[in-house]
Amino acid sequence: MRLLVTGGAGFIGSAFIRLALREDWASRLVNLDKLTYAGNLENIASVEADPRYRFVHGDILDAPLLGSLFGEEKFDAVVHFAAESHVDRSILGPAAFVETNVRGTFQLLEAARAARTARFLLVSTDEVYGSIPEPHDADETDPLNPSSPYSASKAGADLLALSYFTTFGTPVLVTRASNNYGPFQFPEKLIPLMISNALEDRPLPIYGDGLQVRDWLHADDHCRALNAVLLHGSPGEIYNVGGSRALPNREVVELILDTLGKPRSLMTPVTDRPGHDRRYAITTEKLQKSTGWQAQIPFEQGLRDTINWYRANTEWTARVKSGEYRSYYERNYSER
Ligand code: NAD
Ligand code: DAU
Repeated sequence: MRLLVTGGAGFIGSAFIRLALREDWASRLVNLDKLTYAGNLENIASVEADPRYRFVHGDILDAPLLGSLFGEEKFDAVVHFAAESHVDRSILGPAAFVETNVRGTFQLLEAARAARTARFLLVSTDEVYGSIPEPHDADETDPLNPSSPYSASKAGADLLALSYFTTFGTPVLVTRASNNYGPFQFPEKLIPLMISNALEDRPLPIYGDGLQVRDWLHADDHCRALNAVLLHGSPGEIYNVGGSRALPNREVVELILDTLGKPRSLMTPVTDRPGHDRRYAITTEKLQKSTGWQAQIPFEQGLRDTINWYRANTEWTARVKSGEYRSYYERNYSER
């Protein structure tokens, strides 16, 4: 397959590219990325010299660029990761979320429609369902009830993509994944932030009571699910992708501290996130039945490997934490 991957210099996109080239999912792979604060070419340095791979520095909002790329490369499929992805940043400044997540997805859908691309996979999120009260687990027919500007912008993209299937017959597939973790994750998200602060003996900011529940999915398991949906999914369909490992945040942070041999007293309760969703929980049965996919990486093992990766890659973390990260950290945490 000739693939266009958007946002491939970010956390999950780069995991997808490394796996796609290693496991031969693509004969050609073009990575279109704007290199925002979250995009990092170091994440995909290992594939740079691969003759199947091409990096294009550009914005998904740039319609002329998309037109020429689709014309030149004759993609069989688009795997659309590019997004503003962090909830706290969407609270500090929602505008970029509407631009990239909604308008950017629109431009990409237009380009795929014009080029009659055979598959358009939108990487969406379980956050579009909003907070799910126990004991229910959301399936793909649950109503959308997003809480944050981030999840509302993803819900917008998700619905727009599905409308292209219904209205124009664009072969859109939508996946809604739970919280990802793994190497190369920007240290603004819970797991890498807690690992990196703990390694530096700095306080670990726990929002509210820390009993919010998230379902953890290793990024490599997520990427294998995306490939399974590309190969076996039906256009117009939505597939949840979960790790079936729901845990309260405090338990995850305690596991990190215990693994690193750091004291639990580093956990510091801070003011809660506005509009904070209490619980995410999804069923993944449809994906399993339709494609045979199963998560392969048990959370405890994946977390241990991830902690070891951050321990071994402190220079990567130091580089991404310099500059913009400092002012973001100050803005998000100093007044909590
Ligand atoms: P990330 O923030 O690590 O990476 C986003 C990438 O998109 C970066 O490389 C960035 O440079 C690029 N980008 C941003 N705006 C762009 C634009 N206008 N044009 C081109 N490139 C642009 O994100 P992530 O955590 O890897 O998430 C990837 C996708 O998966 C997102 O769509 C996100 O909503 C979705 N998702 C993430 C999770 C998670 O837990 N991280 C879970 C479910 C779904
Ligand atoms: O569910 C999928 C979503 O998971 C993705 O769509 C998003 O892109 C991704 O960012 C993630 O969203 P969350 O808001 O759940 O992830 P985050 O890592 O920001 O937070 C996880 C939980 O940890 C959440 O309950 C808030 C809490 N938290 C987070 C941070 C950064 C803290 O208690 N302290 C913190 O400093």
